[in-house]
Amino acid sequence: MAEFTLPKNSKIHAGRRFSAPAGAKRTREFKVYRWSPDDDENPRTDTYEVDLDSCGPMVLDALIKIKNEIDPTLTFRRSCREGICGSCAMNIDGVNTLACTLAIADCKKNEVPIYPLPHMPVVKDLVPDLTHFYAQYASIQPWIRTQSAPPPDRERLQSKEDRAKLDGLYECILCACCTTSCPSYWWNGDRYLGPAVLLQAYRWIIDSRDEDTGARLDDLEDPFKLYRCHTIMNCARTCPKGLNPAKAIAEIKQLMLARQG
Ligand code: SF4
Ligand code: SF4
Ligand code: FES
Repeated sequence: MAEFTLPKNSKIHAGRRFSAPAGAKRTREFKVYRWSPDDDENPRTDTYEVDLDSCGPMVLDALIKIKNEIDPTLTFRRSCREGICGSCAMNIDGVNTLACTLAIADCKKNEVPIYPLPHMPVVKDLVPDLTHFYAQYASIQPWIRTQSAPPPDRERLQSKEDRAKLDGLYECILCACCTTSCPSYWWNGDRYLGPAVLLQAYRWIIDSRDEDTGARLDDLEDPFKLYRCHTIMNCARTCPKGLNPAKAIAEIKQLMLARQG
């Protein structure tokens, strides 16, 4: 997997070190990015040595143990702890991924580095500010848009074949791992929609029940929103759900070409 650069505010210095209790036999160190808007300090990394014999197997388990038992000031997001909500996305061991689905045993570095998703403003510690990302998601109007009246007696139906076209798209949990791994998004994220939002846009473009395909494509016909993707493929390499946003982006470009005749 590709390794990614660290947050923009890069004057990071080594901070505090917390040792495991005496007698701990199986330990692992986690070097965690720390920054708070309440402190007038540069970011630092604190190192926590965790006793693995009293810790669950996943990186999120280690973070929860650190917060509960070692340092309650550590801040991170999590909810489902099973790869469904996308809240715990962060840069672990050099890769954007979900803390709850990455096993500690699968981390390569001895002292596991944990940083917030790269190239995003940081709210505190491991929490990125996703306000702009969510606004971009809202901009593609992620719901079925129709002009026709709905059938009076049932839902708008879809054939099995049309439903299958959503496979590989509907599973996206909007964790932003792909978008924050994309160099084009790092440099043009103010206007380029990025892989996650474009994958979602495609999910509605090809939904057989949607009646606004032309308007959706019109909206993406823009030098920045869509065409900043240069097929670098970091997005597909990093997606923790195994999805391929670059392919979805290529399909949108094909549809654009097809309608130009
Ligand atoms: S495509 Fe994958 S990496 Fe990107 S937001 Fe969706 S689930 Fe996360
Ligand atoms: S393929 Fe496109 S969207 Fe994916 S990382 Fe590369 S430039 Fe970004
Ligand atoms: S806690 Fe929900 S995806 Fe990790």
